[in-house]
Amino acid sequence: MALKNIVIYPDEVLKKNCEPVTDFNDQLKVLAEDMAETMYAAPGVGLAANQVGISKRIFIIDIAEDNQSDLNVFINPEIIDIEGDLVWEEGCLSFPGMYIDVERAAKVTVKAQNTDGEFFELTAEGLFAVAIQHELDHLNGKSLADKVGYLKKKMMIKELTKIKNSKK
Ligand code: NI
Repeated sequence: MALKNIVIYPDEVLKKNCEPVTDFNDQLKVLAEDMAETMYAAPGVGLAANQVGISKRIFIIDIAEDNQSDLNVFINPEIIDIEGDLVWEEGCLSFPGMYIDVERAAKVTVKAQNTDGEFFELTAEGLFAVAIQHELDHLNGKSLADKVGYLKKKMMIKELTKIKNSKK
């Protein structure tokens, strides 16, 4: 396994629609493992492939209390049903230190594939539902920056560019 670098907004890879996964090979399993290691090290509860620079439709989520015991891998995910709404204060590993209130569905049913290409369906509520919607946004080239107004977005980019430059 290997730790990957997490891409910081406004990197272009975060603004592009990710490509469907078509090959369910060993390389895909390694990617999922590397993403998990990277997410746990961060630490975070969710991570999309384009956040590590790979424009493929795969994201992972682990909302377990110990944040290491309930890894869910979603490949080519689609939300097939939603119910209710809520507002959640969301963070994102590509927006270090930033938290934004986002309106989301309270409950979602998602259809996706696992690393063997097998289809599954899952219904999630609360934080899990929010994380699924947040990560799916990433795969569609959307992120927290698209949930705020123009001025706030400009301020966020300025702040993130400072953080990025301080890491060089
Ligand atoms: Ni995110």
